[in-house]
Amino acid sequence: MSTVLSDDDAIKIKAMIADKHPGSICVANYKGGVGKTTLVCLLGYYLAERTNKKVLLFDIDPQCSLSLAVGFDPEEVSQTELTIYNLVKPTKWAKISKTKFENYVFPVPDTLSPDNLFIIRGSFDVDELDMEIAKSIVNEEKRRIDELFLYCKQMLNAFDGYDYILVDCPPNKMFLTQAMLRACSFYLPVTIPDAISVYGMPRLLRWVKQIPASDRPRLLGYVLNAINRTGGVPGGKVYSQQSAESRLKNSIMKDLEKIEKEILADDPMIGVIPRLDAIARFLSEQTKFSRFEFKRKTSNQPTIEECLVTITDNIIERMRAYHA
Ligand SMILES: Nc1ncnc2c1ncn2[C@@H]1O[C@H](COP(=O)(O)OP(=O)(O)OP(=O)(O)O)[C@@H](O)[C@H]1O
Ligand SMILES: [Mg+2]
Repeated sequence: MSTVLSDDDAIKIKAMIADKHPGSICVANYKGGVGKTTLVCLLGYYLAERTNKKVLLFDIDPQCSLSLAVGFDPEEVSQTELTIYNLVKPTKWAKISKTKFENYVFPVPDTLSPDNLFIIRGSFDVDELDMEIAKSIVNEEKRRIDELFLYCKQMLNAFDGYDYILVDCPPNKMFLTQAMLRACSFYLPVTIPDAISVYGMPRLLRWVKQIPASDRPRLLGYVLNAINRTGGVPGGKVYSQQSAESRLKNSIMKDLEKIEKEILADDPMIGVIPRLDAIARFLSEQTKFSRFEFKRKTSNQPTIEECLVTITDNIIERMRAYHA
């Protein structure tokens, strides 16, 4: 299969690319199980509801957790043509002008979902993409990685009818993860504030710094997920989380770029999400779920809804500041 673009094609693709999609956000962390899918799902609902604008979710994780969480059967979806894999597989790269991107977009089927929330569904086959790229002869690998990035950037731009795009990444550095991180305007890491989970986060920032300056996504801030509060102190976090949080903040502050320091002021943390059973149930059994649970007060803690409104509003504000 010859999928490598000729020099002429590659130059044409470069010339066709304008700026990045202005509302594209990559939710990333190489650590697994920290809440990336949870955040993309919750943020998708709240961004769509609060802004009334069109929001598009991208499930680029071969685990397909996001597609499952919003009501699709990944087993069935993976057997269809209209998945992320079929949208980004190498044979598509040279056919960008012929691809009908809108055909890959589906409304989120969950009945609780706002009407303006859509998804590009995941596929188990995304694993194959790395194999296909890795099979290229050694000195073509970098070129193909660049081509995938250019394709992803242009693909995101093709969804210009959507105001916000949220990309749910897998917990790894697969080529598609790297390309989408580089192709998005912004990135939004999420972590649980415990020693093991925060360990790898500064590495993500340093990796972003290795992306050529002209392509580098900007940090919107990081979200702390699964916050456990102590019963005693109103609003207080448990001790192990407090110490992990302050270590994380200190190490992230060192790696911020000048513009990020300006926009994020002195606080790269953009918001928190409590650890509550209602969140796990929202992701796993939406048909039986009532959104009222997000408004329920548990002791003196902010509700899930209050936390999500804060994160959504901060994201909108920080995006505006970066674009100003
Ligand atoms: N704040 C929370 N409260 C309760 N349960 C949560 C919370 N956040 C995540 N979970 C649960 O933890 C599990 C892992 O979350 P999630 O799938 O969002 O992590 P992830 O980072 O996307 O994982 P992966 O790296 O495998 O993609 C899920 O079962 C989810 O329901
Ligand atoms: Mg996930």
